[in-house]
Amino acid sequence: MRLGWLEAVALTATIANAKDLAYSPPYYPSPWANGHGEWAEAHQKAVELVSQMTLVEKVNLTTGTGWMEDRCVGVTGSVPRLGIWGLCLQDAPLGIRFGDYASAFPAGVNVAATWDRKLAYLRGHAMGEEFRDKGIDAQLGPVAGPLGRYPDGGRNWEGFAPDPVLTGIMIAETIKGIQDAGVIATAKHFILNEEEHFRQAPEAQGYGYNVSESLSSNVDDKTMHEMYLWPFADAVRAGVGAVMCSYNQINNSYGCSNSYTMNKLLKAELGFQGFIMTDWQAHHSGVGDALAGLDMSMPGDVTFDSGTSYYGTNLTVAVLNGTVPEWRVDDMAVRIMSAYFKVGRDQVRTPPNFSSWTTNEYGYEHVIASEGWTKVNHRVNVRRNHAKVIHDVGVASTVLLKNDGALPLTCKEKFVAILGEDAGSNPLGANGCDDRGCDNGTLAMGWGSGSANFPYLVTPEQAIQHEVMKGEGTVIAATDNWNLENMASIASQASVALVFVNADSGEGYISVDGNEGDRKNLTLWKNGEELIKTVTQNCNNTVVVMHTVGPVLIDSWYDNPNVTAIIWAGLPGQESGNAIVDVLYGRVSPGGKSPFTWGKTRKDYGPALLTQPNNGHGAPQDNFDDGVFIDYRNFDKNQETPIYEFGYGLSYTTFAYSNLNVHRLPARPYHPAQGRTTHAPSYGKPGEASDYLYPEGLDRVDLFIYPWLNSTDLKKSANDPDYGMKHDEYIPDGARDGRPQELLPASGAPGGNSGLYEDLYRVSVTIKNTGHVVGDEVPQLYVSLGGPDDPVVVLRQFDRITLAPGQETVWQTTLNRRDLSNWDTASQNWVITKHPKKIHVGSSSRKLPLEAPLQDLH
Ligand SMILES: *[C@@H]1O[C@H](CO)[C@@H](O)[C@H](O)[C@H]1NC(C)=O
Ligand SMILES: *[C@@H]1O[C@H](CO)[C@@H](O)[C@H](O)[C@H]1NC(C)=O
Ligand SMILES: *[C@@H]1O[C@H](CO)[C@@H](O)[C@H](O)[C@H]1NC(C)=O
Ligand SMILES: *[C@@H]1O[C@H](CO)[C@@H](O)[C@H](O)[C@H]1NC(C)=O
Ligand SMILES: *[C@@H]1O[C@H](CO)[C@@H](O)[C@H](O)[C@H]1NC(C)=O
Ligand SMILES: *[C@@H]1O[C@H](CO)[C@@H](O)[C@H](O)[C@H]1NC(C)=O
Ligand SMILES: *[C@@H]1O[C@H](CO)[C@@H](O)[C@H](O)[C@H]1NC(C)=O
Ligand SMILES: *[C@@H]1O[C@H](CO)[C@@H](O)[C@H](O)[C@H]1NC(C)=O
Ligand SMILES: *[C@@H]1O[C@H](CO)[C@@H](O)[C@H](O)[C@H]1NC(C)=O
Ligand SMILES: *[C@@H]1O[C@H](CO)[C@@H](O)[C@H](O)[C@H]1NC(C)=O
Ligand SMILES: *[C@@H]1O[C@H](CO)[C@@H](O)[C@H](O)[C@H]1NC(C)=O
Repeated sequence: MRLGWLEAVALTATIANAKDLAYSPPYYPSPWANGHGEWAEAHQKAVELVSQMTLVEKVNLTTGTGWMEDRCVGVTGSVPRLGIWGLCLQDAPLGIRFGDYASAFPAGVNVAATWDRKLAYLRGHAMGEEFRDKGIDAQLGPVAGPLGRYPDGGRNWEGFAPDPVLTGIMIAETIKGIQDAGVIATAKHFILNEEEHFRQAPEAQGYGYNVSESLSSNVDDKTMHEMYLWPFADAVRAGVGAVMCSYNQINNSYGCSNSYTMNKLLKAELGFQGFIMTDWQAHHSGVGDALAGLDMSMPGDVTFDSGTSYYGTNLTVAVLNGTVPEWRVDDMAVRIMSAYFKVGRDQVRTPPNFSSWTTNEYGYEHVIASEGWTKVNHRVNVRRNHAKVIHDVGVASTVLLKNDGALPLTCKEKFVAILGEDAGSNPLGANGCDDRGCDNGTLAMGWGSGSANFPYLVTPEQAIQHEVMKGEGTVIAATDNWNLENMASIASQASVALVFVNADSGEGYISVDGNEGDRKNLTLWKNGEELIKTVTQNCNNTVVVMHTVGPVLIDSWYDNPNVTAIIWAGLPGQESGNAIVDVLYGRVSPGGKSPFTWGKTRKDYGPALLTQPNNGHGAPQDNFDDGVFIDYRNFDKNQETPIYEFGYGLSYTTFAYSNLNVHRLPARPYHPAQGRTTHAPSYGKPGEASDYLYPEGLDRVDLFIYPWLNSTDLKKSANDPDYGMKHDEYIPDGARDGRPQELLPASGAPGGNSGLYEDLYRVSVTIKNTGHVVGDEVPQLYVSLGGPDDPVVVLRQFDRITLAPGQETVWQTTLNRRDLSNWDTASQNWVITKHPKKIHVGSSSRKLPLEAPLQDLH
């Protein structure tokens, strides 16, 4: 049975106790785009184009042609009459999934670890160039959901950090980079997609869990705004062209059916002007989702290759039978084409010249239908000089957690041992496992749709051996983690033992070693702990390098005196070995800072991931009772001392902080937005059913999704047993109301009320390099908002600064109104509370030597 959202809510409600289940309030009608701010020109162009389109042409833009029907993971219908071929949408957030002659970039978590806005932008721009040159219209990334509520969440590494500000700044820079290169960026997954278990009922059933609905993430309004929505606000403010709604439910309403998250939060409050697409198969109803704000169905079919669609023909029918207003479909098409024009697709567009579905040069244009044999892979090398930015991000994201003087190495070590499978190659080749769904050899990205093919992968073993061979040292690598006797023997001969260990995770459709996307524990993989134990027993100069997707438990060995240094290198992409060598041998002083907390136990992080259904066969209920207290905010609240805190990282030099200055800036009072929107604009009138019949003689591609009708009998064309359910049961109140609507107080521009981004304070600090080598420091500014329910401190600003020995500089930054506000549920707006506020500046979330009260706030 397929259900609209009202029905879905009703069904789950009968399974558990309706009054106990979280509920998502309706918000209608779906806001129409208005071309606000820097969208004006693109919006105008889109309106002019869409005004020339017929209903079926507009519907075509909103609907994918079906899974594996065309070359990209998602392709929309086209408008041949106006010279527009289908839009190509392609994974992943770190490079082109299924691409050849394209780069494998460092993962998002490494970008966060650089704390470097410029590198985030440059990586985004380089990725954008590659997508553009392969003929891709939209990159399916970057990621701010998951944010990282659970340290073991499978896809956290695709995103940035479990902090809304670090994630918000990094997602914004990445989006600007991608879009400046002429490709639409897609902020995903909207929203509260914090774990892999139960994200889709069929997938969960495949693992033997008997659940009939996706997990529901239940969150209160304040936590939503102060944590999970925050980075999406930054994404919208950065001009992101697309947003992908998620598999999970929010308050028991599906991510792609939820009028509160899509209509209210994203479109009305944040003023999003681009389009919302579904995650792949996250579409659950036609009319309901259209009215709830969904603009595009991906990959278009109800389930992969069903040959049926909630949009396509059904959307044409829904307009003709009066259920979905034409203005809503006009708005979908305008939003899609606005994103297209905003990034300049019309200037740089070329047809896709690769295929996701074969590595051969020749293949089918329509793979599922086995039709259209042609040259599909043109094997265009799109890499340019991107190895450089990959290398730079790899080096800059390397976090030095411990150093008892073992590093940097000198090249004079007599015997260098490289120990651990994570130092070497995957015996099956770097791309030997589909979607990187294994943990063989060195780990340089996680698994799932967030992966890309490596054009090459420089392993640590290769790069270190190359380095040692420049001198006269001996270098021996051993990568069998289970032959501990052998490891012990080599370690006992070594002047330095470099031990490589890892921990992997990925997307829920692949299970690796019993990890169903999410990690089943926080320990090292592949006998890593035993390996470290063995080596440290035999070598008093053991350097541990970790390639992990997030935090791992290191309590049993980090303080062993024989562990003389610890490095976290994350998921560095194709230049992995070259990057680590630069840091190990001191060509560059490490300056990365941990983008998450290293706790002693899993329990210290807060609630466990939900891994068993807790609502009978209904949607598992994941209550976000921890509110805004995730990662360091939770450790701070519980006064739990972590091993290494959020923001922590050492260097080969040292820095001193002094001279904190805070200046109140003149600012206008904050005004809630007032007034009304325009009337829903209409860019065409629906014709008659007879105008939209399949063209005569059309050679239909098998299982392909089209916008046309089989018959002027609409019910027949829809071929839906539920067709024509009673109106008042089906259409939420006000959902078809095209009259001017009241503005929300926190709205006004893309990203929200522009008053939120007005600077209220200027802050400056003097930072000095007090050591003997050049190095980077990341000054971090935290705020304590002062209320009884507020975290001890929250990150608000940072920068990455390079200083020569003895050099000092004045770091200047600002705090805006949003930085100092809390979300007020009563007024549905941001307010600066009366609680006294302070700022703290230093080198990590717990090393904050400078502080000052914020005066004259009100
Ligand atoms: C979910 O329910 C909570 C509690 O009633 C409410 O504060 C919040 O706004 C709701 N959010 C959504 C997206 O429905
Ligand atoms: C819809 O898109 C398909 C696939 O690109 C194309 O064959 C068809 O002609 C398009 N229909 C219209 C009405 O433009
Ligand atoms: C492939 O890429 C090249 C270079 O970007 C471009 O000129 C061309 O139009 C694309 N398509 C084909 C079929 O080669
Ligand atoms: C799953 O639960 C439903 C509802 O109780 C039941 O009918 C069905 O047999 C169960 N399926 C399995 C495989 O246990
Ligand atoms: C219309 O949608 C229903 C599900 O709501 C589906 O069963 C039916 O196959 C769809 N029709 C077409 C023509 O895709
Ligand atoms: C590679 O990974 C696969 C899948 O996890 C595993 O079965 C295999 O043992 C691994 N091979 C090696 C040599 O580690
Ligand atoms: C944790 O999971 C990894 C990966 O599956 C596994 O290698 C390791 O043995 C597990 N650790 C424990 C303590 O079970
Ligand atoms: C440290 O290494 C030496 C060998 O160099 C060994 O004798 C000693 O037991 C090790 N200490 C620990 C705590 O493992
Ligand atoms: C480490 O072990 C070596 C011999 O393997 C020895 O020369 C050296 O003094 C030891 N260093 C420490 C700090 O114990
Ligand atoms: C429309 O007609 C085609 C060709 O006869 C048929 O294959 C298809 O199943 C029909 N679709 C629906 C929804 O009835
Ligand atoms: C209108 O069409 C849609 C799409 O096929 C269908 O779901 C809905 O039930 C129809 N409504 C009426 C009133 O016929």
